Amino acid sequence: MIEHIGGELRVHAMELDDVEIIHVMELRNYDYPWTSGIVRDCIVSGYECMKLMHDDEIIGYYVLQIAANEAHLLNICIDKPWRAKGFALQLLRIAMRSAAMQQAAELFLEVRPSNKRAIKLYEGVGFNEIGCRPNYYDAKQGREDAIVMALYLQV
Ligand SMILES: CC(C)(COP(=O)(O)OP(=O)(O)OC[C@H]1O[C@@H](n2cnc3c(N)ncnc32)[C@H](O)[C@@H]1OP(=O)(O)O)[C@@H](O)C(=O)NCCC(=O)NCCS
Repeated sequence: MIEHIGGELRVHAMELDDVEIIHVMELRNYDYPWTSGIVRDCIVSGYECMKLMHDDEIIGYYVLQIAANEAHLLNICIDKPWRAKGFALQLLRIAMRSAAMQQAAELFLEVRPSNKRAIKLYEGVGFNEIGCRPNYYDAKQGREDAIVMALYLQV
């Protein structure tokens, strides 16, 4: 359910001019943020990097990699003040539809077991846990596994 907030919501491709603001959002929203170099590389590499705008403000984004009929959701983020209003679900559905339209049969992602909010979001649209990458992420104490999730896509 999308909360009615007024203003205009749009989704646009990220541009190189957005790299610094996206990096600031990474710092605000992740304990282990992407560097601005990673954000830039994703754009330059031609990954699908989309920003969710509320009027002139970027309030979220996703990064999707598509190759050989498989899609990988590398990042999805809603800026803190804009969370729990249904925007992540909306953005995720846009990414799923886009991957399907580009002939991806399956969408994969990795998530920290501690990221309960994200896991609930993914399970809610039908992602299933298909595996685990041990010690995948940096963590405050040592390393944290990654749960690998997958979803079959339909156009
Ligand atoms: C994960 C994230 C994208 C969710 O964004 P959000 O705007 O809060 O999500 P939504 O409002 O669209 O909620 C979608 C679903 O997530 C779950 N959810 C949302 N807020 C929640 C909360 N505070 N507690 C528990 N579950 C919650 C619910 O299942 C919700 O569905 P519902 O509306 O039926 O309850 C957001 O927390 C975020 O950007 N976190 C930092 C970046 C991150 O961890 N990204 C994922 C990397 S794998």
